[in-house]
Amino acid sequence: MKSYRIALVPGDGIGRDVTDAAWQVLERAARGAGFGLEGTAFPWSCAYYKETGAMMPDDGIATLRGFDSILLGAVGWPAQVPDNVSLHGLLLPIRKAFVQYANVRPHRLLPGVTGPLRKTDFDILCIRENTEGEYAGAGGRVHRGGPDEVAVETSVFTRKGVERILRFGFEQARRRTGRLASVTKSNAQKYSMVFWDEVTEALAPEYPDVTVTSYHIDAMAARMVMAPESLDVVVASNLFGDILTDLGAAIQGGLGYAASANLVPDRSAPSMFEPVHGSAPDIAHLGIANPIAAIWSGAMMLEHLGETAAADAIMAAISATTARGIGTVQGREKTGEITAAVLTALG
Ligand code: NAD
Ligand code: IPM
Ligand code: MN
Repeated sequence: MKSYRIALVPGDGIGRDVTDAAWQVLERAARGAGFGLEGTAFPWSCAYYKETGAMMPDDGIATLRGFDSILLGAVGWPAQVPDNVSLHGLLLPIRKAFVQYANVRPHRLLPGVTGPLRKTDFDILCIRENTEGEYAGAGGRVHRGGPDEVAVETSVFTRKGVERILRFGFEQARRRTGRLASVTKSNAQKYSMVFWDEVTEALAPEYPDVTVTSYHIDAMAARMVMAPESLDVVVASNLFGDILTDLGAAIQGGLGYAASANLVPDRSAPSMFEPVHGSAPDIAHLGIANPIAAIWSGAMMLEHLGETAAADAIMAAISATTARGIGTVQGREKTGEITAAVLTALG
């Protein structure tokens, strides 16, 4: 029997609840489809940091490299460890070390979930650059604490990085309705975003079947609310994509519905699958976290592993659950009830 080795990194807060839910569903789907999933859990988190002084061991990345995929919950517990320490100690280095450059985040409404908009017919695929840009970690501070203090955070956009994420976006658009929206802010940011626009223009002739339109990030934010049905594939830089995908989550009913895949398209290292949301300290330990985003992310993992039938079965089970009115209003049902309904729908 074919079997896959999965690294489980539940992390902090509700990350633990939703990863547990997703794993139950994944195991059931694998059994149904006749393949194996061997999960190995790692306790890397803010609690682990408090014990050891690091978010993961020195050989953490080397350890993860041996797995077929990584399933992650959420990282961050700001009451214990500053966010910039925890995120730069665990989540962000994984994305960077494995060059998981394409962060794919689908935004559409599940049956029975209404969301805050009157429009319901949108189907957006956000493609977020995931390894450089505004998250390059380049910068510094001088005259700390004084009246002349200056803090600089430099974005880094490389031709290699911009070209590969745009190509990924063009390819996705080609497989869908052939429309690509490229998001920049080239009216204000005259180096990086003008460069991004130039690369977009240079690549476009190679994809004559794709219509590419450039939008400024501010206009795109409004468009996602006012006319989400006009969008198909949306490609954006690391920070812009981060912000737009919480907006995308909002229009699909809440953060508990937004899934993501951190992909290594050439499969030279493991890809990582995680919900868009964080550790949600405000609802941690209450048993009311919506596990759908994590379960959907699990389906994206199976899709990436080539187990399309099992991935489709999970998506059908999620849809059957929300169509029955379970898990349609964030916070109303319990994590366990939604998970049980998805498991039942899976059969
Ligand atoms: P958050 O996404 O954790 O929460 C934002 C709001 O959405 C909260 O009100 C929360 O209760 C709600 N929410 C989130 N997920 C939900 C779910 N599944 N079901 C129901 N409600 C849900 O964002 P935040 O509060 O800004 O961040 C909390 C911590 O998580 C911070 O440490 C932050 O850095 C971290 N974070 C981590 C990731 C990640 O690991 N990928 C992503 C975002 C934030
Ligand atoms: C996300 C998160 C992370 C990001 C944070 C926690 C660093 O918000 O995955 O969307 O900005 O990438
Ligand atoms: Mn985010």
